[in-house]
Amino acid sequence: MALVTGASAGLGREIARQLVLGRGMTVLATARRMDRLEALRDELPAGSVAILGGDLADPAFRDRLWTWALGQAGRVDLMRWAPGHFAREIGREGSSP
Ligand SMILES: NC(=O)c1ccc[n+]([C@@H]2O[C@H](COP(=O)([O-])OP(=O)(O)OC[C@H]3O[C@@H](n4cnc5c(N)ncnc54)[C@H](OP(=O)(O)O)[C@@H]3O)[C@@H](O)[C@H]2O)c1
Repeated sequence: MALVTGASAGLGREIARQLVLGRGMTVLATARRMDRLEALRDELPAGSVAILGGDLADPAFRDRLWTWALGQAGRVDLMRWAPGHFAREIGREGSSP
């Protein structure tokens, strides 16, 4: 069982996909945008992804997430904890460094 933060986009989404498709793991996926989490869940084999939406900046959500994750399987074997938006605009012409 893997807990993947930032699973609605970018690296987190791809890590979730690879853990399911490449490693056969079950993934607990979290981010704020539920529509994107639902799309990820629906794209992958049934039962391989469980989703919980919320803001990791909120301590109450972090507590809820951990309780939910442990409730899914009793343990978390792997955790990808790297939420945050990648500043893709850095380095573009005219933008600040
Ligand atoms: N991409 C790279 O090449 C690269 C290289 C080095 C480091 N990084 C770092 O790796 C991290 C992810 O990069 P990325 O390219 O995958 O970024 P991204 O495409 O912007 O994805 C960020 C993910 O984090 C989630 N997120 C952001 N704020 C959140 C919050 N408050 N609560 C819950 N989820 C939150 C977003 O989902 P929601 O908006 O749905 O909540 C999204 O799923 C960033 O910290 C970035 O600086 C990236």
